Amino acid sequence: VLGHVADLDIVNDIVSPDGFPRSGVLAGGTFPGPLIQANKGDELRINVINQLYDTSMNTTTSIHWHGILQHHSNWADGAAFVTQCPIPPNASFLYQFSVPDQAGTFWYHSHLSTQSCDGLRGPLVVYDPHDPLDHMYDVDNESTVIVLSDWYHIPSPQRSNPDSTLINGLGRYSGGPMSPLAVVNVEYGKRYRFRVIGASCDPWFNFTIDGHRMTIIEVDGTEVKPVDVDSLAVFAGQRYSVVVNADQPVDNYWIRALSSFQNQTFDGGQNSAILRYRGAPDEDPTTKPRPYVLPFDEGFLQPLFGAGAPGIPEPGKADVNINLVPSLNTTSGQWALNNISFVAPPLPILLQILSRHQHPSQLLPSGSIYELPSNKVIEISIPATDLSPGGASGKAHPLHLHGHAFDVIRVSGSSSYNFVNPVRRDTVSIGTQANNDNVTIRFVTDNPGPWFFHCHVDWHLRA
Ligand code: C2O
Repeated sequence: VLGHVADLDIVNDIVSPDGFPRSGVLAGGTFPGPLIQANKGDELRINVINQLYDTSMNTTTSIHWHGILQHHSNWADGAAFVTQCPIPPNASFLYQFSVPDQAGTFWYHSHLSTQSCDGLRGPLVVYDPHDPLDHMYDVDNESTVIVLSDWYHIPSPQRSNPDSTLINGLGRYSGGPMSPLAVVNVEYGKRYRFRVIGASCDPWFNFTIDGHRMTIIEVDGTEVKPVDVDSLAVFAGQRYSVVVNADQPVDNYWIRALSSFQNQTFDGGQNSAILRYRGAPDEDPTTKPRPYVLPFDEGFLQPLFGAGAPGIPEPGKADVNINLVPSLNTTSGQWALNNISFVAPPLPILLQILSRHQHPSQLLPSGSIYELPSNKVIEISIPATDLSPGGASGKAHPLHLHGHAFDVIRVSGSSSYNFVNPVRRDTVSIGTQANNDNVTIRFVTDNPGPWFFHCHVDWHLRA
């Protein structure tokens, strides 16, 4: 566990989180990286020291603090080729930024190509000493952070399918050894604030805890009106806080994170961890899932506080209205928005702007940059129109906006708009089915600088 002022060493090391040894790119030498803890109002100063040398993977790096708004600190956003040059080996970069009015569950990860798939991912929690929902839980500390991830046996410069699902950095793969699983310890009678982080490169996870319901109280760093569910869809980049009441008989219970990808199997403890009550034996659980009766629906989520979506409450009536159509170029294998794939420019976009060598309309990469006026309401709609085989519709694409949280005025699977109390988040899935979805978001341009907006499936981002 690190505080808000810390050195973060980025190193190569051999790890075997699912029993299969491989070289990784690791923050602090572990997977996931150490939990960074801060309080609302803190200034974080994280000195990232690049000690990478394994040339089978990227040896340059950059760290993005996912969900942190970086108000007045765009330069510290960590998006390689957008706000900074990659950090070369044997160099360091001091990220310095404040969280004046943010609290909640975040994470950090490499924002250089697909390097995060090689292991450079970790949790970041900003605690609120005056949390308006703290009467709902008794325990909220490093033991209640639950990091869900995929894991690969092959270095990410080669694309592959995930070999296993890890919970807090432990898991098992099909045909592999009975590797240790993560254990989340609880005590009967206490209520826990679990902070569930979708630290995935690709799949999304259906998260459940046998025998227990979950009360959602936070979505991507914004507290919501409590909603009871017995499953949670967690897409790459998304976070939830759920309150779990340890009110069941003292025992071991399976925590399940079924992957949307391959190896959806649960056999032999794959895709799982253990919820262990104090006093329960040190054994694998034997529990079965109960019928799920409280389905997760993103449309049920409403912010605890908030004034609704900004601007005129009618679709297409924001100050600036943008349609972004995702598609797959089946020849090149590249994903695109409005038929253009992001290509890393020779000079980071922030540096292009600051050096004023380019007229704004000549910023590179051309066609990928949308210039937005300040202090205006922006609406982005992402219609599911690419119905070609293997096309964008029908695949999960969690879209993430840097530097802003947005109101989701139309969620996946819904045909109506909500301007009154839409969920506010920073990563939204455009849906897994070609059902004429048109996920639509709104935000206000209150944070100048170049900000990435991209699909959080790392393979879809890599040019
Ligand atoms: Cu979680 Cu552009 O990042």
